[in-house]
Amino acid sequence: MRYLITGTAGFVGFHLAHRLLEAGHAVTGFDGMTPYYDVTLKEQRNAILARFPGFTGITAMLEDREALERAAADTPDVIVHLAAQAGVRYSIEAPEAYLSSNIVGSWNVLELAKTVRPRHLLLASSSSVYGANDHIPFGETDRADEPLTIYAASKKSMEVMAHSYAHLHKVPTTAFRFFTVYGPWGRPDMALFKFTDAILNGKPVEIYGEGRMSRDFTYIDDLVEAILCLADVPPSEENRVGDALDTLSRNAPFRVVNIGGGQPTELIRFVDTVEQAVGRPALRRFLPMQQGDVPRTYADHRLLTALTGFTPATPLEHGVGEFVRWYRAWRGDVAAAKESRCQEGPAGTSIGGV
Ligand code: UGA
Repeated sequence: MRYLITGTAGFVGFHLAHRLLEAGHAVTGFDGMTPYYDVTLKEQRNAILARFPGFTGITAMLEDREALERAAADTPDVIVHLAAQAGVRYSIEAPEAYLSSNIVGSWNVLELAKTVRPRHLLLASSSSVYGANDHIPFGETDRADEPLTIYAASKKSMEVMAHSYAHLHKVPTTAFRFFTVYGPWGRPDMALFKFTDAILNGKPVEIYGEGRMSRDFTYIDDLVEAILCLADVPPSEENRVGDALDTLSRNAPFRVVNIGGGQPTELIRFVDTVEQAVGRPALRRFLPMQQGDVPRTYADHRLLTALTGFTPATPLEHGVGEFVRWYRAWRGDVAAAKESRCQEGPAGTSIGGV
């Protein structure tokens, strides 16, 4: 199969592309290499993908329609749109980037799919569209129209644009809502990376909202498995699961699906888990709850299971342990590379960890 994946230098896109390439699929990766966080990490992910003969990488922004068309020149069977301006809290500081990447950029991907007509278009939305809902777990049919940030609003906008495109142009489209994804090669702006880094360097871990927030942390391997399973189940009458859970639209080959770990964890317990994995105590600095943060997330993943038979189940302790193992190896490689002035980046850091 031929896949076009946007965001292959990003955390999720990298893992998805790697898994597909290992299985012998052809992957065209499209990434803007934006400097929202350390571009070195993105270059390292790219370098690993580039070792596969089945990988073609294109560096361009989503706003560049011609580049997107070039990326789809081999008529992909499946398009997975993961590239985005990420980060819930940063969207309050820099809303323009979210409008440009997540709304205009996603619209460009919809336009592309209209022409290319893949058998399935998959788009990454976010649990943040549920806002401050207090009805848990969050079901896909629950209200998702009170976003607390421009980040969440931009993801919701992408979902509703995608519905209208699916109605008009009939490309089967699934928008999945991710819940705080973590694991090796994870994002430096996210809690697990920041906490691990702080503990290892003897710096304080900054804990927002007294640590009372909870997140349905989702391990990267579970997420990738869910995406691959869903890719085989495009929304159609034939793939209706036949009960009230299904979000298959009445007007379009379109549905939304949660992908969450299903085991929500209070932030303060999450810090304990990171401490245990690192094997050192954290210096804890408590800060006020940040503007735009939602108090809790918790995925109802019954629809995912009904559609695919797959249920995310990686225990948090295992996933955090895998991250910490990767992080230590990666840091060691980066330090060694600096020392030897090696320009090629960390050669020894493999996909899963050490
Ligand atoms: C994450 C991603 O960053 C979003 O891209 C994604 O769409 C979103 O999950 C989602 O699932 O919708 P977030 O849950 O804020 O957003 O993920 P983290 O940045 O890892 O934060 C997790 C929790 O730790 C939050 O409650 C946050 O307030 C807290 N946190 C984060 C801290 O207490 N201290 C920090 O230094 C960083």
